Amino acid sequence: MNLSETHPEWILASDIDNTLTGDEQALERLAQRLRTLREEGRLFLILSTGRRLVQVLDGFEQEGLPEGDAIISQVGTEIYLPPFEADMAPLQAWKERLEAEFSRQEAESFLDGIEGLRMQPDKYNTPLKVSCYLDEAPEPEAAAREIERRVRTAGKEDVYQVIWSSGRDLDIIPAAAGKGKAIRFLLSFLDLESGQVIVAGDSGNDRTMFEEFDYGIIVANAQPELKALPESEADSHYRAGEDYAAGVIEGLRHFGIFPD
Ligand code: GLC
Ligand code: MG
Repeated sequence: MNLSETHPEWILASDIDNTLTGDEQALERLAQRLRTLREEGRLFLILSTGRRLVQVLDGFEQEGLPEGDAIISQVGTEIYLPPFEADMAPLQAWKERLEAEFSRQEAESFLDGIEGLRMQPDKYNTPLKVSCYLDEAPEPEAAAREIERRVRTAGKEDVYQVIWSSGRDLDIIPAAAGKGKAIRFLLSFLDLESGQVIVAGDSGNDRTMFEEFDYGIIVANAQPELKALPESEADSHYRAGEDYAAGVIEGLRHFGIFPD
């Protein structure tokens, strides 16, 4: 398939964990319907996740995740295009754009002395993503706000972006990165801008998708930080009544992608 010659009507950018996963039977129903739409050339599917590439590929084999047309991994700091291979390199053009200003060392300095903070395992820490856990901090939420405040006070909001998810995970990534901006970049890179974008997610690292795009599905099991997303007049974010993949199916019906 020559991607530059395809013009899918719909572009679905979905988070994986607790958006697609969580209800195996619903995921199977959703994956089947997405597969059909892709075969008809009507849907371009982007998996947009905090996971590492290998965890997404394992998910195709072991969790019944639908195969995507693109993978945005590590919270929007890496982009991969098919054919997917475990040891492949991420898209160079996106990597170069993000590397310009980001210093891992400076990003880590915003975490100095935060009580109860634990760094995530090395495999989740990359040159473009500094990730830690705050669930053992006396007040996780306050600790996250403090880290954000430090970035602001240093006048570095244009360089570093703090992402707070699920009462546990805190990532510092380039301000130019994140799932929302990575999708934008991809649409322009592949000349897919005429398609209608719909995003789907459940937690804080999905916020940038909802900020960037008007049409989105928030599954019912979403975390408070995503549910609290302000509803502006312009956006048409659909708050599903159902959890996990069943919520995604409900949202895709709402937007008319699924006829019933
Ligand atoms: C995924 C990543 C982790 C990150 C979290 C929230 O779980 O593996 O590093 O902190 O998403 O973005
Ligand atoms: Mg999730």
